[in-house]
Amino acid sequence: PRPILLTRHGESLHNVRGRVGGDTVLSENGELYAKKLANFVEKRLKNEKTATIWTSTLQRTILTASPIVGFPKIQWRALDEINSGVCDGMTYEEIKKIMPEEFESRRKDKLRYRYPRGESYLDVIQRLEPVIIELERQRAPVVVISHQAVLRALYAYFADRPLREVPDIEMPLHTIIEIQMGVTGVEEKRYKLME
Ligand code: F6P
Repeated sequence: PRPILLTRHGESLHNVRGRVGGDTVLSENGELYAKKLANFVEKRLKNEKTATIWTSTLQRTILTASPIVGFPKIQWRALDEINSGVCDGMTYEEIKKIMPEEFESRRKDKLRYRYPRGESYLDVIQRLEPVIIELERQRAPVVVISHQAVLRALYAYFADRPLREVPDIEMPLHTIIEIQMGVTGVEEKRYKLME
């Protein structure tokens, strides 16, 4: 059975400042995670010559993958973080203060709420369909380095979690979720590489 390894990018400068979206680089902490992840992946997939590394098109996932050597890397736009539209680059506090109605609508229905000129979780789930089809088709291990909202959706698919839970699934930084699909169902292991 071939594992799928899911992880968020290492901590980014926007993560440190509590800002959503954007396309910032990694913090020092995030760079450290990238090294630890490379170490982990190289050991875990030592005998898996055909494994591939999938990232989004955003810098923080590409930089997180960069210390990993020996495996082909593929960038998917469909793995980019939820598009927060007019709220891109803001903190949740700022959204609450400047656009209280938007903040409230999202709080009420996070799954369906679509950021003005951006996306909803349902939109993200829909655009992930080709990624899921391709993941199911793979015979070799895949390491998916993506983002919080996208990984919630991907994880929910494999772990068979109901749609309504997707936006609230815990998806911590610096943690690898390993998924194995066997005959008896889905097995899951977690590796927290650092805080
Ligand atoms: O804060 C990191 C982040 O990836 C943002 O870029 C994104 O908007 C957010 O998480 C998604 O999480 P939530 O749907 O809980 O706001």
